Amino acid sequence: MGKVSVGLSMSLDGFIAGPNDGPDSPLGDGGERLFAWYSAGDTDYEMPGTEMVFRISPQSAELLREVDRTMGAFVTGRRTFDIANGWGGRPPLGVPTFVVTHTVPQEWVYEGSPFTFVTEGVEDAVEQARAVAGEKDVAVGAASIAQQCIRAGLLDEVHINLVPVLLGGGVRLFEHLGITPIELESTRVVEAPGVTHLGFKVLRED
Ligand SMILES: NC(=O)c1ccc[n+]([C@@H]2O[C@H](COP(=O)([O-])OP(=O)(O)OC[C@H]3O[C@@H](n4cnc5c(N)ncnc54)[C@H](OP(=O)(O)O)[C@@H]3O)[C@@H](O)[C@H]2O)c1
Repeated sequence: MGKVSVGLSMSLDGFIAGPNDGPDSPLGDGGERLFAWYSAGDTDYEMPGTEMVFRISPQSAELLREVDRTMGAFVTGRRTFDIANGWGGRPPLGVPTFVVTHTVPQEWVYEGSPFTFVTEGVEDAVEQARAVAGEKDVAVGAASIAQQCIRAGLLDEVHINLVPVLLGGGVRLFEHLGITPIELESTRVVEAPGVTHLGFKVLRED
């Protein structure tokens, strides 16, 4: 079975979006800085399943290509889905995407839709994503979903694209986790222009 991992771009003070995020400002005030590394190099990286092409460093491209090869399904939250307007029907990497929500947007339910709307919570979404991903990994996006996965003991790896900026506010990734320390083992540090790619394994007692 594949791993469950979260991979997000985060400011040094821990935010994955600035304040006032919404459809008109997907990453909030100042938050576009978190994605500046996607155009900080001269290596083309075409995101599978989409029409997006980034110009990134060779180091970052190698990491993203590894994600392409290993990711089999994606679990995200309804705010990210709405803010991205469902990525125009073409989710990142083109993999089956499970959106955790309280209400199903019927306009996105159609034959061949890449989206499955899960109203029974994060554990159910991860279980469905795992079944579809098979031997491949499940990527978890958005803060609230990652937090719930950590609390439920579902997360195997944390990948942070650490951006040298202090946003001062917005959507914080690591909060609502309780007060019991969660041990991590550092597995990767890759310096690239505008970003440091950090990898960690979540250590569990099971
Ligand atoms: N920096 C990066 O790499 C990166 C990547 C992705 C996203 N982002 C940003 O992250 C922000 C969104 O993250 P977020 O944490 O605020 O929101 P989110 O996780 O995308 O969505 C939260 C919403 O999902 C639904 N939900 C969550 N848990 C649920 C549960 N257990 N049962 C039912 N529904 C549940 C609820 O929506 P309903 O009640 O409406 O259904 C909840 O309000 C955006 O600004 C986005 O642009 C940043």
